[in-house]
Amino acid sequence: MSDSPDKYLWHPFAQMGKVSDHQLVLTRGDDVWVWDDDGNRYLDATASLWYANVGHGRESIRDAVSAQMDELEAYSTFGDFANPPALELAERLSRLSPIPDARVFLTSGGGDSIDTAAKLARRYWHEQGHDERHHLIARVHGYHGTHGFGTSLAGIPPNRTEVGRLVEDVSVVGHDDARDLSREIERVGAERVAAFFLEPVIGAGGVYPPPDGYVEEVAAICRETGVLLVVDSVICAFGRLGTWYGIERWPGVVPDMITFAKGVTSGYLPLGGVVISDQIAAPFWDEPDAPPFRHGATYAGHPSCCAAALENIRILEDENLLPRGRELEGELFSQVDRAAGLEAAAEVRGGTGLLAAVEISAEVMEADPGAPVRLAMLARERGVLVRPLGRGVAVSPPLTVGTDHLEMIGDALVESVRQLA
Ligand SMILES: Cc1ncc(COP(=O)(O)O)c(C=O)c1O
Repeated sequence: MSDSPDKYLWHPFAQMGKVSDHQLVLTRGDDVWVWDDDGNRYLDATASLWYANVGHGRESIRDAVSAQMDELEAYSTFGDFANPPALELAERLSRLSPIPDARVFLTSGGGDSIDTAAKLARRYWHEQGHDERHHLIARVHGYHGTHGFGTSLAGIPPNRTEVGRLVEDVSVVGHDDARDLSREIERVGAERVAAFFLEPVIGAGGVYPPPDGYVEEVAAICRETGVLLVVDSVICAFGRLGTWYGIERWPGVVPDMITFAKGVTSGYLPLGGVVISDQIAAPFWDEPDAPPFRHGATYAGHPSCCAAALENIRILEDENLLPRGRELEGELFSQVDRAAGLEAAAEVRGGTGLLAAVEISAEVMEADPGAPVRLAMLARERGVLVRPLGRGVAVSPPLTVGTDHLEMIGDALVESVRQLA
């Protein structure tokens, strides 16, 4: 190990033996652009990790956070404590959601939210006198974070292996055929299944939009069998699919819970949460002696993070950014799709929301399993940051991108995929 000042930071999901060759130290951001410590400018075609929906460097978010810090920087919301931004944010998020009269449980991020939703689903059934109803079902390619439940629900095998025994009574079904869910519920027994976890568009697992009718069908299966529908919109919400929670793209589908994070603050400060239906909340809310839900993270309802979210939501609304995830989805897809048909490209996926992926051909992957990182490096040399994942790279730019930026993404991908071959 070299004796460099860079040797202490352990990067998530990174091969640390290799990272030091190409660590990119970013020092500044402005809208869709970021700069490294040598002053090189890059187009942030991934909105950092799928979250910088309003772009970088927003002074009004900084000011909102700073004003909150002048008043009360932080305080817990455990027990009966509250603060004005947390109260206002919970109300805003509830009113914006497709779940009527929803309660909002705030967390520190996406993985926290998934663990909250999974535990709450099981706790809900316990309160209903159905202790046996605790099986959880997720989908192949699904990504639900790296906490205990999220790891167990992973539809990406390497993310769940070699860490010993995980949460029990969890299974994974095919991502694109609703009959797989039906069969699995039948196999386990509906009376034993607590919840089904659904990313409207699978993101980190490789960008897989659902086939036509899939979301409606699995929602109907959940309704018929009493299985709770947990929509994981950690990526899909706050404009990524052009609506507040993403799931409104499938009218008539009303989840029991929605998990969110990322775009709720555009990442300016960490925050996530779960929007929860009245039915699920009732056993914990409706009676003075109702039991507590013994769960929550230290920073739940952190006032400075909530202030960032409120200002971020105001920007999405006032600048009419929210619908852009939908308005630009065709344009982004056609730009990325220019790489389809190139020798090193197996497939291009996207078209639902402002996210897309290029999958690298089996031949190239076989010859070099590190090809996704290599492809990302080639795009980086062209001034565009794309994200290596699985067998390809993904893009998910800020909602503030223009046509010229989308063209730049297309050009960089086409040239880089050509060079990869
Ligand atoms: C769909 C989904 N769920 C959950 C998570 C986990 O979120 P976090 O990394 O904030 O814990 C992610 C993160 O990318 C995600 O994409």
